[in-house]
Amino acid sequence: MKDIITLGIESSCDETSVAVVKNGREVLSNIINSQIKIHEKYGGVVPEIASRNHVEAISDVTKEALKEANIRFEDIDNIACTYGPGLVGALLVGVSYAKALSYTLNVPLIGTNHIQGHIAANYITHKELEPPFLCMIISGGHTHLVHIKSYEEYEILGKTRDDAIGEAFDKVARVIGLGYPGGPKIDKLAKEGIPNIQLPKTHFDNLDFSFSGIKTAIINLHHKNPDINKADLCASFEENVTHILIDNVLKAAKQLNIDKIALAGGVSANTYIREKFLELEKKNNMKIYYPEPILCTDNAAMIACAGYYNYINGKCSDMYLNAIPNLKLGEKL
Ligand SMILES: Nc1ncnc2c1ncn2[C@@H]1O[C@H](COP(=O)(O)OP(=O)(O)OP(=O)(O)O)[C@@H](O)[C@H]1O
Ligand SMILES: [Mg+2]
Repeated sequence: MKDIITLGIESSCDETSVAVVKNGREVLSNIINSQIKIHEKYGGVVPEIASRNHVEAISDVTKEALKEANIRFEDIDNIACTYGPGLVGALLVGVSYAKALSYTLNVPLIGTNHIQGHIAANYITHKELEPPFLCMIISGGHTHLVHIKSYEEYEILGKTRDDAIGEAFDKVARVIGLGYPGGPKIDKLAKEGIPNIQLPKTHFDNLDFSFSGIKTAIINLHHKNPDINKADLCASFEENVTHILIDNVLKAAKQLNIDKIALAGGVSANTYIREKFLELEKKNNMKIYYPEPILCTDNAAMIACAGYYNYINGKCSDMYLNAIPNLKLGEKL
């Protein structure tokens, strides 16, 4: 069978990324141009600045991706781009660029859901992984526990009722003075601390999550006692949220009788969360999957991989494809 070369384009937030992926799972290049340094001084992503920087970067990032993969534009078989969820101006840059390339090269365009991309990152790292499995999506904007029934069918079993887990990491880090983005900084500092601070654990009867109470408790503790040991606070926060994630995952695994669990999204790069989930392999006889760190946060290889599966299932887009900032998983695939 002829190889299928997919060009992936990701621009939903503050990373301009272009990747070349062969047959869905073999990454030939994955260039990520991060704007973190630009947004750092504002303490978060400024949408207008993000869009402008995507416009400036996208052509060069694409050329670099082709060069590293050692292919020409004519070798591309299809183009997958993120069309939601994300920042509308940022998404529009990738969508417009992908449409122009698809029209010029006369190859199919595949609008791809960013969250579907985060899930698909696991297919790249674990060549043997096939649905069905459970996926705990823990990113900057989402906390979704999903039953991946097939490459195209997703059932959301539970989600956050307030803050996404990544948002909680970032807000806690900002309040205790660690800076942006907070996730990696909390990860590092927590290693020096002991989880000895009591924090509220939020549980619901169903499989939903809540992180705003924990975040507020930490903010209050820090305001009342600015000299509190920050490393202990970070360790306690990590232990608390990991406990909540694992509790719900175990409940869902039991309900559906599934023993394959994948983690996805930026927060799945967290070393404590990975370690605690891995313990389930021995303790609960489960198989745990997570992407390699570079594929956890936003990148175009995961979009090319998800797009490849949309393509082979006949789900291509036309030139009316538009950015959908609040696109839901499983919608309009
Ligand atoms: N080692 C880490 N530990 C904890 N959190 C981390 C780590 N590395 C990154 N993060 C967090 O991951 C988030 C970014 O992940 P990601 O790029 O998937 O989110 P996003 O693209 O902004 O949101 P979404 O994918 O939901 O649209 C940030 O909140 C960041 O703090
Ligand atoms: Mg993301």
